[in-house]
Amino acid sequence: MCGIVGYVGLNEAEPILLDGLAKLEYRGYDSAGIAVHSGQKINIVKSKGKLAELQKKLSQNELKGTLGIGHTRWATHGAPSDINSHPHASNNCKIAVVHNGIIENYLSIKEELTESSFTSDTDTEVIAHLINKFYTKATIENLLDAVYAAIDKMRGTYALAIICSDFPDKLIAVKKDNPLVIGVGKNENFIASDITAIINYTRDAYLLDDGEVALIDAKNIKIFDKDKTLVSKKIFKIDWDIESAEKGGYDFFMLKEIFEQPKVINDFLSINLYDENFLHKINLETLENFTRIYIVGCGTAYHASLIGARLLSKLPNIFVSAEMASEFRYNEPLIDEKTLLIVISQSGETADTLAALRMAKEKNARVLSIVNVVGSSIARESDNVIYITAGPEISVASTKAFSLQVMALYVLVCNLYKVCKVISTEKFLQLQNELQRIPSLVTEILDRENEIKIMAEKYLSCKNVFYIGRGLDYFIAREGSLKLKEIAYLYSQAYAAGELKHGPIALIDDSILIVGVITQKNIVEKTLSNLKECKSRHGKIFIVTTENNSDIKNVADDSFIIPQISQIFAPLLANISLQLFAYYIAKGLGYDIDKPRNLAKSVTVE
Ligand code: G6P
Repeated sequence: MCGIVGYVGLNEAEPILLDGLAKLEYRGYDSAGIAVHSGQKINIVKSKGKLAELQKKLSQNELKGTLGIGHTRWATHGAPSDINSHPHASNNCKIAVVHNGIIENYLSIKEELTESSFTSDTDTEVIAHLINKFYTKATIENLLDAVYAAIDKMRGTYALAIICSDFPDKLIAVKKDNPLVIGVGKNENFIASDITAIINYTRDAYLLDDGEVALIDAKNIKIFDKDKTLVSKKIFKIDWDIESAEKGGYDFFMLKEIFEQPKVINDFLSINLYDENFLHKINLETLENFTRIYIVGCGTAYHASLIGARLLSKLPNIFVSAEMASEFRYNEPLIDEKTLLIVISQSGETADTLAALRMAKEKNARVLSIVNVVGSSIARESDNVIYITAGPEISVASTKAFSLQVMALYVLVCNLYKVCKVISTEKFLQLQNELQRIPSLVTEILDRENEIKIMAEKYLSCKNVFYIGRGLDYFIAREGSLKLKEIAYLYSQAYAAGELKHGPIALIDDSILIVGVITQKNIVEKTLSNLKECKSRHGKIFIVTTENNSDIKNVADDSFIIPQISQIFAPLLANISLQLFAYYIAKGLGYDIDKPRNLAKSVTVE
């Protein structure tokens, strides 16, 4: 999704902005641009397409100056084009702005701005015109007043970086419902929508809160709240290392992140698995006060939610349900002070998930979030947080974050099973030991990467892929299918295996690959029999399973046997092999795996 960078300091802004934008490429974008203050005026260069296109233009028209803003755009209002790219400026080019989010009432604002002429189809352009309209005197106070007056008129979500031609050393940042951080340097300061854009330059940051406006120059950062009162904020220390945001020899971040899984799972377990205060730290020593648990997320995080809900539904006297955040908001769910909302999000910024959280909080629910990005909006607005400590996940297709979300749920579930007496202390200890084995079992699977690569390469010509499974395996089938759609652009659909007969089986012929996930003992024969039905209709069969038996081998064209483990944990292992499978299909088809078309890493609009 769109990315913002801003720089003010003593160095040339252009290379710093371009470097920051390159770090934000992973979020997904279709055009890019920068505005740099030359000392006299604001110059803007922007281009449809990848950063290389922008760089080509800049090589003919270098922008000199030490103040600037940059943007990668993911089109919402208006197609990707040079003109619709950000930055946008007022007609007199006094005000230039980049924007993440959506201005819902931009059309009515546009109608009111009768003296402006608009060049783009974007909602963002109105912001530049609006600020300019209120900006009547060349003083910084007047400029700030103009920004406040403009945001007062705007409805929607926005993170903004603004510069004004009258102030060659001032950068203004505004945040509402879209993330924005200020990187604190020495004689230079930065802004960014995502800390990965600035970790090359500083480890100190201020995290802006909703409604805040910051006035920044090379030496000072002043942050004001929505009433224009100066606020004092604590510096947030960024502890992600630069290497973890680099590819480190792998062809793609996705593969690097798949291979990081043993380490990050191990790190997570070493902090949490044997922590006797695990439930205490999240204020959940008892569930007595709750009658309902909802688990919400989007995309991959929703699949983790499904697994969590299935496992938590074994708790006595409590209703548990997994919900897609985008649906949950509008389904009028029953929420009260006896509701626990578990929110799952890698980025901690997904608009629908954040909105679900806010809705639940308004109704007095308790919110526990499972989040990767420290200091993200979801983390900050939750009552309690479990950080999954995955480090930066750059690839749009989520891999290590999913595994860690599931690990966090496993640790949570085992602890709750114990306190709610679903299992004995002995069984709890046994499950702990099993969880401890997971990093090395993941390594075992990764060591067999080549087996999966060879299988994947056999199926490059498949145009349609079904993923099937029952129970927990169905949720992994969904996640496997999503990965394939995301990065290999194959039509792929997951079905609960028993549903195949109720329609989808009509589609099976020799052009279809059916991936069966079988890790749950009680349904081995059932799922296998569904796969046999597909085979007899000439479908190709790939089975990922814990079962190493001749029946499976007879049905499968290919199979991948994962290591044995307690069956509630086996889906996580099955998923590792499906991550590699999707990766090698996408690689074989020659796609840009880390930046799939039309997708964004962090979806900050509804
Ligand atoms: C987007 C990403 C997915 C991700 C989903 C939820 O769709 O492309 O990979 O699973 O958002 O993101 P979150 O950051 O909330 O986990």
